Amino acid sequence: MTDERQTPFVVLGVTGGVAAYKAVEICRLLVDAGCHVAPVLTADAARFVTPLTFTALASEPAQTELYGGPSPIPHTRLGQSADLIVIAPATAHLLARYAQGLADDLLTTTLLATRAPVLVAPAMHTEMWEHPSVGDNLRTLKDRGVLVVEPESGRLAGGDHGAGRLADPSTIVAAALGVLARTGRTPDLSGRRVVISAGGTREPIDPVRFLTNRSSGKQGHALAEAAVARGAEVTLVTTSSVPVLAVGSGSLSIVNVETAAEMHDAMQREAKRADIVVMAAAVADFRPKAPNASKIKKENGLPDLVLEPTEDILAALVTDRPPGQLIVGFAAETDQVMEHAAGKLARKGCDLLVVNDVSVPAVGFDHDTNEVVILGADGSTTTTTLASKRTIADAVFDRVLSYLSSN
Ligand code: CTP
Repeated sequence: MTDERQTPFVVLGVTGGVAAYKAVEICRLLVDAGCHVAPVLTADAARFVTPLTFTALASEPAQTELYGGPSPIPHTRLGQSADLIVIAPATAHLLARYAQGLADDLLTTTLLATRAPVLVAPAMHTEMWEHPSVGDNLRTLKDRGVLVVEPESGRLAGGDHGAGRLADPSTIVAAALGVLARTGRTPDLSGRRVVISAGGTREPIDPVRFLTNRSSGKQGHALAEAAVARGAEVTLVTTSSVPVLAVGSGSLSIVNVETAAEMHDAMQREAKRADIVVMAAAVADFRPKAPNASKIKKENGLPDLVLEPTEDILAALVTDRPPGQLIVGFAAETDQVMEHAAGKLARKGCDLLVVNDVSVPAVGFDHDTNEVVILGADGSTTTTTLASKRTIADAVFDRVLSYLSSN
């Protein structure tokens, strides 16, 4: 772990081409990856996409003007704050102005007022892309150390096909995060190993039937997405097939399990090397003692279903935990919520317990939103409002980091 873990500051320059709409996705992916994103639009970019769209998604309001804004010298603030400047899409006109050192608007002045690395992702029609002047300007910029994410071949505006289409937003973001990682500007979970469990376990009755619960795995998967975005090395032990969008400077490996016993084994194995363990899974508390090897037939009458308790995975993790490991439990309650939660935190012995009242509409099981209270073994209570599961995931990791720094 280094002292360099911090929020990287990225200036996202957007210039005037049809592909400017894709810069909205680039902005969102960079924010999701834990960057502070400051959008700067040229006047022509603002003809294609409104600054408001970027303002709604970015870390600070989008800027378009060199003059008349709150700061008298916005270009030096942006240029000096930047850890990286990404220009996507970069038009032929922007490449020419930048290569010539012209400084006639906020974006080009910012480009001259920075020592940060600059990454350009050109996009234009094939004829323009193949024009010698564009090639010359690009060569000049590359010779000065500017990084280029080359355009792809494909469908262009107006239905034409050819070279010049903006590279995929995820390719541009991956290149940007690679530059940030190399310059040592890393997000706040970089270097941390995080193991997360997710989904409801399935306990077989026979080869076609099982006991399970209403958990979708969405909250656990959102936790994995947030941790990858924030730079962690993540292992997700899950029963769920909900997709996980792993964008960020961290990494993700997925271990698929079905039963509480399989999840117990996987968590025991994976948690040994973890700095942070999050038990978001809804583990069955009991399972059929002797699942039938073949399908139970109804003509044989009601089956004699004898149940036995499953392992308490969280309690076992707490007992076996290596020094310094932080463990987060989850609790889904429907009544006397805080009373049950406080008892559960003490009983399980974890450091933080994320509590949701699943009797409230739009909270918990299978919803895309959640609202939680995070109880700390240090007596602290953190409350969120109703928000997306991804936002809740970030609130959990914010609390994890503040807990680690103060306990
Ligand atoms: N948990 C676990 N193993 C179990 C049951 C639960 O690891 N066999 C974990 C869950 O992943 C969660 C926490 O314990 O992080 C609390 O789960 P919950 O189902 O709310 O609590 P239980 O201990 O099962 O108690 P109860 O169902 O009676 O509320």
